Amino acid sequence: MSLKHNFAVMDSKTEGTNKKKPWPTKAAMTQVYELNLWGGSDTDFYSGEGSHLPSIVNPYIEALTLWLKRFENAISLCDLGCGDFNIGRQLVPYTNQYIGIDIVSELIKRNKEKFKIVGLEFQCKDISKSNLPDADCVVLRQVLQHLSNTEVQEVSEKLRNYKYVILTEHVPNGEFIPNLDIISGQGIRLKKKSGIDLLAAPFNLVIKSKERLHRVDLGPNKGVIETHCYTMF
Ligand SMILES: C[S@@+](CC[C@H](N)C(=O)[O-])C[C@H]1O[C@@H](n2cnc3c(N)ncnc32)[C@H](O)[C@@H]1O
Repeated sequence: MSLKHNFAVMDSKTEGTNKKKPWPTKAAMTQVYELNLWGGSDTDFYSGEGSHLPSIVNPYIEALTLWLKRFENAISLCDLGCGDFNIGRQLVPYTNQYIGIDIVSELIKRNKEKFKIVGLEFQCKDISKSNLPDADCVVLRQVLQHLSNTEVQEVSEKLRNYKYVILTEHVPNGEFIPNLDIISGQGIRLKKKSGIDLLAAPFNLVIKSKERLHRVDLGPNKGVIETHCYTMF
């Protein structure tokens, strides 16, 4: 098995069992960036094509910008798993406060140096384990798709603290069995023909309403990237 496919599991098997032992998520995500497993070998940190391809990024930014402009007074936003911030930097001007959070320390250090904008701050946290800052709205863009169900559940429980959740997930084309479990890391549920649906079991997130803001079809068997806004109770 190549390194690319094996990075999220430790070499040694859990003692006495045949189960592979997952890496801690922080180590797995740090290695994804160190080895450019999401591409972008020319750049220091690269969060993947989903964060850079103009055909994916531009309509997303347009949809989000239009949504943020609906508010008479700009709202505050907490970006969970902000990555290399190619997306977030384009949304900051439409908010009154923006907090970017990521688990990878060196990435947050780089973001702090690279993006100095009034009202913008970065924090290094594991969003599944830490308390999260107050804000009107949470953005979770192509993050949960990389996390195990245990971690998705931990994040999901914190979402009711916000008025709005803008969730972007890469899911299979057409019907699929939601929320099959994976080991946290580079990969997503698409290889299991599954994807995240927070409203379905085992998460059963309770929301007031749902609106689809954006959808891009990547082609047969490549899945779709969908963005929904959930209004919370
Ligand atoms: C595919 S990237 C998406 C980045 C960004 N949201 C975007 O759309 O451009 C996923 C990001 O989530 C971060 N991440 C994964 N698990 C996390 C966790 N438990 N806590 C905080 N950040 C996490 C990764 O380090 C990575 O930067």
